Amino acid sequence: MVPSPAEAPDGPSPALLALLEAEPLGELTVLDVGTGTGRLARALAPRCRAVVGVDRDARQIGEARARAAAAGLANVRFVVGDVEVEEYAPFKPDMVVAHLCMSDAIAERAARVLAPGRVFAFVAFHTDQWKETNRPSRFAYGEVGIKRLLKRTGFAVEHLAVEREVRTFETVEQGLAAAAPLAERWQADGRWPRYTKFLAEGGRTLTRAHLVVKARKA
Ligand SMILES: C[S@@+](CC[C@H](N)C(=O)[O-])C[C@H]1O[C@@H](n2cnc3c(N)ncnc32)[C@H](O)[C@@H]1O
Repeated sequence: MVPSPAEAPDGPSPALLALLEAEPLGELTVLDVGTGTGRLARALAPRCRAVVGVDRDARQIGEARARAAAAGLANVRFVVGDVEVEEYAPFKPDMVVAHLCMSDAIAERAARVLAPGRVFAFVAFHTDQWKETNRPSRFAYGEVGIKRLLKRTGFAVEHLAVEREVRTFETVEQGLAAAAPLAERWQADGRWPRYTKFLAEGGRTLTRAHLVVKARKA
């Protein structure tokens, strides 16, 4: 996966970590779905009983294992798997977390595995993320949509915030430069021509927007 500014290359969301730290992590086995190279899993491991990171990208799981080993973390393991197809019961999680990997299928599986009182917490792309490309990620939710999903799957929302950053530009060139780290990915998925059209028509913004959510199984 190409790193992007929206994916906070320096580490997982501090807001999410703060929400998780309010829980008795030392007693918990935490499942990190869509773990990527395991940055959230690594941040949590020293505080938790155990952490399991799952991702369908074997290359990233390999990287996650190498980084955890280099950090000397013995209570974290990484598994290749599809978190929208497989059930989570084999991992016996007491908590499910997700950092920029969120879908209805993930919430449904978290709901099936977690006992009442257990926490499901995540950062998800907000539908305004890169709205200038006029094509939201399939992992994106608005406030209404995420509340509806969590209610349907049996979670009570304890925290829901939108973190939003709108960059503004004077010129087309500045707008192109700001999106340059995303260009290869956006060219591959068709968003680049939409963004350049937006700039050509006078648009001068680039929006980053995430939902930060903590919910508890009812
Ligand atoms: C935006 S990246 C976030 C990675 C990581 N959580 C982080 O914040 O650094 C999304 C990750 O979700 C993974 N992913 C997407 N759909 C998945 C699925 N159905 N099963 C497992 N992993 C999936 C991708 O492979 C990718 O690593």
